Amino acid sequence: MSFVERLVCSKCGTKYDPGENPIMCRKRDLGRLDVVYNYNGISNRFNRRRLESRRSRDIWRYEELLPVSSGFAQRLGEGGTPLVHARRLGEKLGMKNLYLKDDTRNPTASFKDRAMAVGSAKAIELKKRDVAIASSGNAAASLAAYSAGAGMVCHAFVPPDASAGKIAQLLLYGASITRCGQVKRGEDATVQAMLDAVDRFGYYPCPSFGPFNPYQVEGPKTIVYELYEQRDWEGLDAILVPTGSGCLLTGIWKGLRDLRELDLIKGYPRIVAVQPAGNQALVRAIRKGASFDRIIPEPYPESVAGGLLDPYPWDGDAAMTGVRETRGMGVSVSDRDILRSVRELAACEGIFAEPSGAAGLSGLEKLLSEGAIGKDDRVVVLVTGSGLKEPDRVIEMFEGKNGGGAKKPSRNRP
Ligand SMILES: Cc1ncc(COP(=O)(O)O)c(C=O)c1O
Ligand SMILES: [Zn+2]
Repeated sequence: MSFVERLVCSKCGTKYDPGENPIMCRKRDLGRLDVVYNYNGISNRFNRRRLESRRSRDIWRYEELLPVSSGFAQRLGEGGTPLVHARRLGEKLGMKNLYLKDDTRNPTASFKDRAMAVGSAKAIELKKRDVAIASSGNAAASLAAYSAGAGMVCHAFVPPDASAGKIAQLLLYGASITRCGQVKRGEDATVQAMLDAVDRFGYYPCPSFGPFNPYQVEGPKTIVYELYEQRDWEGLDAILVPTGSGCLLTGIWKGLRDLRELDLIKGYPRIVAVQPAGNQALVRAIRKGASFDRIIPEPYPESVAGGLLDPYPWDGDAAMTGVRETRGMGVSVSDRDILRSVRELAACEGIFAEPSGAAGLSGLEKLLSEGAIGKDDRVVVLVTGSGLKEPDRVIEMFEGKNGGGAKKPSRNRP
């Protein structure tokens, strides 16, 4: 049973009946079709006592708040990831209440499985055979896995420098891969190629941002439900979110609003958007208090955090609202800080993250040093993707670019 009441375009306000199964606004205005639920209907079935009695641990545990029935889903174990109380890292930073949401532990090793499990279930419901995605790698690898199980063909449009681990996943899951050109001044060649293919061949678009698929925000929002369940519904002060297109952050904001609508939480934690210094258009706008339509995309995004290099923050409008409404913040971090966070997560807490997945921790450290987050605050850092996808980066960190150099044991030296 679906509790979706309607979909509403975030740009022009056009309303759509869920039965129409709209994907993009018919005005093609790059608005996201926000999914609106009937919370009155949901509240009878979705409460703390009922949740406690549920056995499933994946995202479908929260089925009433999802836009598609679990009956259509390829269930690979998406969601239900650990919330780690980071004691050693906390000690180092002087914090008692630091938690890491370890989303590296999803089926294809990134949080994108939450989004793609929902997006692909919708494609299966609509009996689609071909799905298309533009992605730096994680989202494409995820959609490819879900498509494989459903017998759908996944057409992945990826940048030329997508990591070997992510390409290996795509190959193995049987995706059709198109490597696109370099980013041209603020334009994303992967998105353009995906849209062309959607128009020409009628593929179902399923990239992990809202304007081209309404269901992408709906999967990641389950992170919030899990956090509150895992903390026994205790309050939180801040959630740090590595941010590229802003879809994940929009999901976090939606999850918080869902829980508030259902009277399951009282206040909101502050949502913090963390971007790399080499691609921080959204953070800059947040810090200046500029409006979304004033955002100037980074002409040539650059960072070790490949998942955070979307030149245009497709879901930035809602992400900015989420940050503002929760009295949150935006913070940019250097590549050096991000690589230090990769090391700290592994060395202190045993979590192997890729740079994009570790950036939230860099943001926390910077805000702690500025006094914008307090040491007594109850803080969750989202760790969003696994380092196993980019092992070269780690080897480079320890041994230098060509595997030689840095610190070889002295007995090997003449
Ligand atoms: C590991 C990882 N973390 C965070 C993000 C950022 O998510 P979003 O683009 O929804 O802001 C991405 C996006 O690709 C990612 O791959
Ligand atoms: Zn519209």
